[in-house]
Amino acid sequence: MFFDAMPEAPADPILGLTGAYKADPRTPKANLGVGVFMDESGRTPVLACVKEAEARLAAAETTKTYAPIAGVEGFGEAARALALGEGWGAGRGLETVQTPGGTGALRLGGELLKRFRGGGRVWLPKPTWGNHAAIFRALGLEVREYPYYSAETRGVDAEAMVAALDAVEAGDTVLLHACCHNPTGADPDAAAWARVAECAERRGWLPFFDFAYQGFGDGVEEDRAGMLAVLGRVEEALVATSFSKNMGLYGERVGALTLVAGTARAAAAALSQAKRIVRVLHSNACIHGASIAREILRDAELRASWRAELDAMRGRIAGNRKALAEGLAARCPGVDFGFLAKQKGMFSYTGLTDAQVEWLRNERAVYMVKGGRVNVAGLLPATFEYACDAMAEAIRRGG
Ligand code: LMR
Repeated sequence: MFFDAMPEAPADPILGLTGAYKADPRTPKANLGVGVFMDESGRTPVLACVKEAEARLAAAETTKTYAPIAGVEGFGEAARALALGEGWGAGRGLETVQTPGGTGALRLGGELLKRFRGGGRVWLPKPTWGNHAAIFRALGLEVREYPYYSAETRGVDAEAMVAALDAVEAGDTVLLHACCHNPTGADPDAAAWARVAECAERRGWLPFFDFAYQGFGDGVEEDRAGMLAVLGRVEEALVATSFSKNMGLYGERVGALTLVAGTARAAAAALSQAKRIVRVLHSNACIHGASIAREILRDAELRASWRAELDAMRGRIAGNRKALAEGLAARCPGVDFGFLAKQKGMFSYTGLTDAQVEWLRNERAVYMVKGGRVNVAGLLPATFEYACDAMAEAIRRGG
């Protein structure tokens, strides 16, 4: 027996929440779990610019033949220009490979590390997105953690972070969230990024950026500033990007891995190896989602409409963040929730313990990720007061 001998695996701690929430017959209930944008009615809409790009693509389409291994023609250049800025890195070597979402980009980067950075460890911030360690461990890479978040200040512990990164060896890789740190929402400020950049240059470790939330922090350009400060000081780096959130292309699985090298020759060699890996992972790139993203980025009209829709998503999240901070402050006098309003991106780290998170799910049908991470976009007008009451009750109960 093969399947019969297998133990059942637990549900995914993030994606598994959606199924559990949907199956929950109780009302009211609130879904603050998985990181997807929701509008005021709780829908995760298809952006208007995406609909328009799809209509244009459908009208012009003549074939569904295979795309090149590295991705749909022109997609890589467009994705890279968005991530790094048009014209960034002139004179250096830059190549980009299309991947199935940001997760695929992390996996592909990990595959390169495994093959060509023998024995190097991968350092992750503590805490980090639940899937990071699993992705690198699945490749047999050794994963270590560096301090990142201070529960006391509810912000980045830059001192501890830089001290730890200062001890990382040159053959190791350091994963950095370029913006909108998942799960804490706490990002380094410009001074802290400058220190990380200086440390990366001096110590010689390889930065690996996870840039999944571009445009959800302060804006498309602003969100890349910290990353560029580091890239400006090092010769080589990896950058994983995703169109899941900022174009709402979640299920289309559109991402990219950018290989930042010192020379065009080095980047071309890395690209050739990445293509060999893609060939055995999923053979070649999927055409639909990447064609949508490319169409939007290339066409001035679609691009402008996308930027407006992205700004609106960011605005709704910021409004919810403020409302949550005020709602909890009103219900829990004497407790300072100002930190919630300062966090960036889709997530808020509420400070709720795992026991409180479990109580909220079991007793109030309010779903969030273990560790107390809340998807702020999941707060809806219809259930906002209910969710706030439930969270305040959990905070007052303690535990
Ligand atoms: C999240 O953190 O909720 C998202 O990145 C979705 C995922 O794949 O975990």
